[in-house]
Amino acid sequence: MKSLRIGIIGAGLAGISAARALASRAHTVTLFDKSRGSGGRMSSKRTEAGELDMGAQYFTARDPRFRRELQRWLDAGWAAEWTPSLYRYDEQGLTASPDEQRRYVGVPRMTGLSRQLLEGLTFNSGVRITDLQRDDEALWHLQDEHDRRYGPFDRILLAVPAPQAVTLLHDAPSLAQAAAQVRVAPCWTLALSFAEPLAIDMDACFVRTGPLDWISRHLSKPQRFGADSWIIQSNAAWAAQHENADPAFVRETLTGAFAEVVDTPLPAPSQSLVHRWLYARSVSPCDWGALAAPDLGLYVCGDWCLSGRIEGAWLSGLQAADSVV
Ligand code: FAD
Ligand code: NAI
Repeated sequence: MKSLRIGIIGAGLAGISAARALASRAHTVTLFDKSRGSGGRMSSKRTEAGELDMGAQYFTARDPRFRRELQRWLDAGWAAEWTPSLYRYDEQGLTASPDEQRRYVGVPRMTGLSRQLLEGLTFNSGVRITDLQRDDEALWHLQDEHDRRYGPFDRILLAVPAPQAVTLLHDAPSLAQAAAQVRVAPCWTLALSFAEPLAIDMDACFVRTGPLDWISRHLSKPQRFGADSWIIQSNAAWAAQHENADPAFVRETLTGAFAEVVDTPLPAPSQSLVHRWLYARSVSPCDWGALAAPDLGLYVCGDWCLSGRIEGAWLSGLQAADSVV
């Protein structure tokens, strides 16, 4: 097959996975992302208290293809196993909840992984694509929010959350319709940092009552440094109910819920950050793998096409790359 020029919108794990698979087959790949960095929801924020994982917290690997890829990342030192002392909090209170599941993180932060995976690829950051146009020769051109144009491309691959894909799929109504069916829930993340470490044994907790879903201790992850920071994430129902809440209210409510779980009076934090993820998690992820309109040269992937997790994002990108070629 001749070498194709392929434009990929979205440099989260799905877009990066597709890009690497296509580049390894000698196609010319150009990635675009509206954010300044890469990694999408697998994101970390540089703060005075350290580089904190505000989005995805860890990943698991169940599919043999993803396990093989993970082994490469581990060998290269781009990811490492995380073995937290795990707890569960529900109406009965806080209990240790150890298990056999192996969990992994990017090092020295979640985005460390996407940075490494992008090496050697052409990546345009800070470019929000607002339109896709197909010319008379069936070649694609991209337009950004400042009316700059990019292209031509033989194929376009969208690797963005479902609601963002819908807005770009006017030329492929059947794909737009499929993406529009996917319901996506928000999530609020609070990061609290303390000058003195909190006297708590727990590293991470699955929360099953109240507004929270998850708590983790930054310093329990491999190769993390800085202050004693805690990542506190709301559950989807609470976030949906408080999607447009004042961040001060979110901070206060989630801090209160955290104090209740750890049953400890909290000192004043040295730093506190709130972030809202509007398109955090697919309420009911599909098992499509990827979507394709081969007659148009248009392809769609993302975690919402498969499992709603990091592993699914990676595999969805691979599947989209396979459909392209
Ligand atoms: P994304 O990472 O969302 O990437 C899409 C990219 O497209 C983004 O970088 C975005 O900026 C870009 N983009 C969108 N529109 C445009 C446009 N018009 N132009 C240019 N660029 C655009 N998964 C796990 O497995 N384990 C976890 O512990 C976990 N925890 C999570 C916690 C939170 C708070 C959140 C939000 C998610 C979590 N997830 C977790 C889910 C995981 O982050 C996702 O499954 C995975 O990162 C999705 O990758 P993706 O490439 O499909 O999408
Ligand atoms: P996993 O196997 O560790 O967890 C899957 C689910 O099993 C957990 O959500 C939890 O409910 C339960 N669980 C696992 N181990 C447990 C234990 N020891 N004690 C009590 N409950 C336990 O990881 P997997 O399957 O890779 O899932 C990824 C994680 O990412 C999940 O926790 C999921 O909630 C989270 N996620 C969060 C999003 C958000 O928006 N906050 C979006 C997408 C995923």
